[in-house]
Amino acid sequence: MANTKSGSKSSVAKWILILVIVVVAVALLQSILANRRSAGIVPQDAATVKAIEDRIKPLGEVSIAAPSRPAPVVAAGADAPAAGESPKPKAGPAGNVGETTFNAICTGCHSTGALGAPKLGDKAAWAPRIAQGMDVLYTSALKGKNNMPAKGGNPSLSDAEIKATVDYIVAAAK
Ligand code: HEC
Repeated sequence: MANTKSGSKSSVAKWILILVIVVVAVALLQSILANRRSAGIVPQDAATVKAIEDRIKPLGEVSIAAPSRPAPVVAAGADAPAAGESPKPKAGPAGNVGETTFNAICTGCHSTGALGAPKLGDKAAWAPRIAQGMDVLYTSALKGKNNMPAKGGNPSLSDAEIKATVDYIVAAAK
């Protein structure tokens, strides 16, 4: 009995020793692996790093990845037509130059009738003037006529801008 008891005790002690050895061995392996990962296997951990970053970034990637991917497609598709079409719209609204110039300079007299200026849109006042022909109106606007100052008093305006403005005035009187 004593032998069996002592034998069972010794076997338990052996198992305990084995367990301790295994635990220590595992701890050593883990420490070795940890050192290798931190030292030379960093590149391999890059995948792990990316996986971690993917977990961290979603808040940022949702806003960055979503617009950035469609953006080039939309930009590439929109820029190509826009680049070709943009010059046309800019040249088209040339009539706006006249409107802009009128509102900036000519409106002072031609909206109020100051100094006897024919008002914008006053068909009765403009009809006889339009009847003179556009060249006469252009010349009067460019060089002045009585109380009408040359170029509305703004020599910095180009002839094209003045003519565009006359066109705008005439169009408003028809
Ligand atoms: C200081 C006031 C004043 C300003 C500013 C002014 N005008 Fe006049 N404009 C007149 C007067 C006054 C007349 C009438 C002249 C006349 O027939 O005796 C007139 C007449 C005209 C006529 C008719 C000319 C004709 O031969 O019948 C045109 C066109 C005209 N203006 C264009 C313009 C344009 C374009 C501008 C702005 C760039 C402008 N005016 C700014 C006072 C002004």
